Amino acid sequence: MMQVLRTVAELRRWSRTLRAAGGNIIGLVPTMGALHEGHASLIRAARAGCAQVAVSLFVNPTQFGPNEDFARYPRSFEADGALAEAAGADVLFAPTVEELYPNGAESTFVDVPILSDRLDGASRPGHFRGVATVVTKLFLAAEPDRAYFGQKDAAQVAVLRRMTADLRLATEIVVCPIVRDADGLALSSRNAYLTPAERTQALVLSRAVRHVESLVAGGERRAPILLASAHGVFAAVPEVRVDYIALLDWATLDPVEIAASGTLFAVAAWAGSTRLIDNAILP
Ligand code: PAF
Repeated sequence: MMQVLRTVAELRRWSRTLRAAGGNIIGLVPTMGALHEGHASLIRAARAGCAQVAVSLFVNPTQFGPNEDFARYPRSFEADGALAEAAGADVLFAPTVEELYPNGAESTFVDVPILSDRLDGASRPGHFRGVATVVTKLFLAAEPDRAYFGQKDAAQVAVLRRMTADLRLATEIVVCPIVRDADGLALSSRNAYLTPAERTQALVLSRAVRHVESLVAGGERRAPILLASAHGVFAAVPEVRVDYIALLDWATLDPVEIAASGTLFAVAAWAGSTRLIDNAILP
């Protein structure tokens, strides 16, 4: 039976009791709720790799900009609990904002320089500062051996890998593959905002990703050619507004001139008022 914990003290006690018992690998899956099959895949991976699994469910206010969707972000506690339990969670950690930010606006923040201003950080100032801060709080509360994140948020992964390395945290970051709908759309809690027409238009993101993957498979490695070609795919759907199309080193988020093995190809675009992202790690 999955336990629901609400306070940092309870989560820490859970983790420390397991650790004191010895031999327990503890997994954490940080989420903002509105769970879908992508989250379920993270929880199942944690279940497979760890003796005990905590899933956190917290819509983190500090990673939303003033004009972003914090207030309307989908909240579905009952359904999330059922999905987390079915996927194998032992604990659901669902704190209040006051519990994680006891000093409100005067909180201490964790700032990962440079990387936090790239990709999504460039169009969402302060976003990765909020992510790094809340993930640090969750790591300090759960003290997990492993934490599971989706590759879909590739820039977030880069920021969190750098943060755990810089702070010499003991938690290993495990990255799980993107989960897609049958037609290719990468799963996202924000897909719920799309109208039927926008959802069809949004398929251009995964089309561009597949297109670049197929060019690379055919031997094309020059970034200007690959990027121009991806822009061409987007040009066919003018309703979707491109935010970025980029080929980058996944660790540094520096642009590359030649796509190599492990290069990140990432896109972000607006379908109506919904910002969507997608990517591939090139072979
Ligand atoms: O990826 C997310 O859902 C969030 O950014 C995270 C990691 C749970 C932090 O709030």
